[in-house]
Amino acid sequence: MSESRPPGRTPRQARQAPRRSSPPPAQRRGRPNPDLPRRVAFDLLRAVDERDAYANLTLPALLRSYHLAGRDAAFATELSYGTLRGRGTYDAALAACVDRPLQQVDPPVLDVLRLGAHQLLAMRVPSHAAVAATVELARAVVGEGRASFVNAILRRCAGRDLAGWLAEVAPDRATDPVGHLAVAHSHPRWVVSALRDALVGDLAQTEALLAADNRPAAVTLVARPGRASVAELVAAGARPGRWSPYAAVLDGGDPAALPAVREGRAGVQDEGSQLVALALAAAPLDGRDELWLDMCAGPGGKAALLAALARERGGRLVAAEVAPHRAALVRHAVGRDAWVVVSDARTPAWPDRAFDRVLVDAPCTGLGALRRRPEARWRRRPEDVPGLAALQRSLLASALDAVRPGGVVAYVTCSPHLAETRTVVNDVLRELAGAVRMDARPLLPTAMSDLGDGPDVQLWPHVHGTDAMYLSLVRRGGQ
Ligand SMILES: C[S@@+](CC[C@H](N)C(=O)[O-])C[C@H]1O[C@@H](n2cnc3c(N)ncnc32)[C@H](O)[C@@H]1O
Repeated sequence: MSESRPPGRTPRQARQAPRRSSPPPAQRRGRPNPDLPRRVAFDLLRAVDERDAYANLTLPALLRSYHLAGRDAAFATELSYGTLRGRGTYDAALAACVDRPLQQVDPPVLDVLRLGAHQLLAMRVPSHAAVAATVELARAVVGEGRASFVNAILRRCAGRDLAGWLAEVAPDRATDPVGHLAVAHSHPRWVVSALRDALVGDLAQTEALLAADNRPAAVTLVARPGRASVAELVAAGARPGRWSPYAAVLDGGDPAALPAVREGRAGVQDEGSQLVALALAAAPLDGRDELWLDMCAGPGGKAALLAALARERGGRLVAAEVAPHRAALVRHAVGRDAWVVVSDARTPAWPDRAFDRVLVDAPCTGLGALRRRPEARWRRRPEDVPGLAALQRSLLASALDAVRPGGVVAYVTCSPHLAETRTVVNDVLRELAGAVRMDARPLLPTAMSDLGDGPDVQLWPHVHGTDAMYLSLVRRGGQ
């Protein structure tokens, strides 16, 4: 069965073309439409593909515009996020059902097929209902002719369950373990390879990590010290976090419904992010401890935590961010607790040796937070890594200029990719006499085991239940 992309439109042209105009919600409400959750999921997938939209920012607006709540909203969320995450597996199965390369299938049709595959292979939707409802969706969004194509392909896809398809289409585990894991756990091959390297080649650990990336993460909150407490968040329906004394976990519902979050006294922040900021704040210092710097502060999660801790000790945080719109987010997050400056930290607006503690939370591939961003794994390219690593080296070198002798720098990424973590720190320290890598492990909660051989710390979703944050602490020597 084949279906072709309409001639003359490249993916880039399609992305730049005006969005298909769809009736506004008020009009839609008057029209019989039995399956709004599937329509929402389709619209989200198109927004991700055509406009590079972030799924987690776009879905809430779509749910509102279609007036979906409760079970319908939960279904739309599971369907769209699950489809985005599982795309690699579903495309491998669908490729075996279509007699053309999948790249030649028109993107909206391919998205409908992916939605169908997710329902058939990973949701508890009976096959006949999954096919019928998805064909109905196809009629509405891509037209009658293509709906027959969708019908034929999904019927083939329904011929096997997930295990059956994996046995058929995934590379052999023994001869191509990375290829096998990439298809079985729906990650790009280069990402599987990088994660395996960061896990010292341990394939069982790699598989556990990939599986953890595919499980939706709970929403974790931070109670900003002196402004909110975990007890307040627990009283509002959250439960205490596992590691951070400031963390609370919300098992469902909208975080913005909590007054502390609405008022900026608490925020949404993974526990791994809290722990690396807390480790910097806890690192022992000789002498002065008054002025802290967050060199890459936007949107302000760690800056808000550090600013509150610094203020409690009578100190002050400077939060720097190169992008003005992100600096505005930092201002909102820190309130009056920090000075915010718009600055490229590589050509800084501050003198050398000015700060006692410095955080470099460097821009990175984000491969450590894939469980929170369903589409992110498909956005990044291996070609992104060298440019990011060069920027990371420059930022760490600037941080070591900014800190006073005896002060401490925390180099942090939300990626475990070795080229962005250990290699960056090794390369920068090789060029710099007197800077000493500290053992970061004692600055993490004592109950936290499996922190590796040190001196750096790499957290993992499948081991610690946090994002895969990397932390290296460096003390600057000299006078
Ligand atoms: C990983 S994010 C930081 C996240 C932040 N620390 C938080 O916890 O919310 C990296 C930030 O660095 C900023 N950035 C990138 N290059 C920079 C530079 N040369 N100087 C300062 N900030 C930079 C990016 O705009 C981005 O906001």
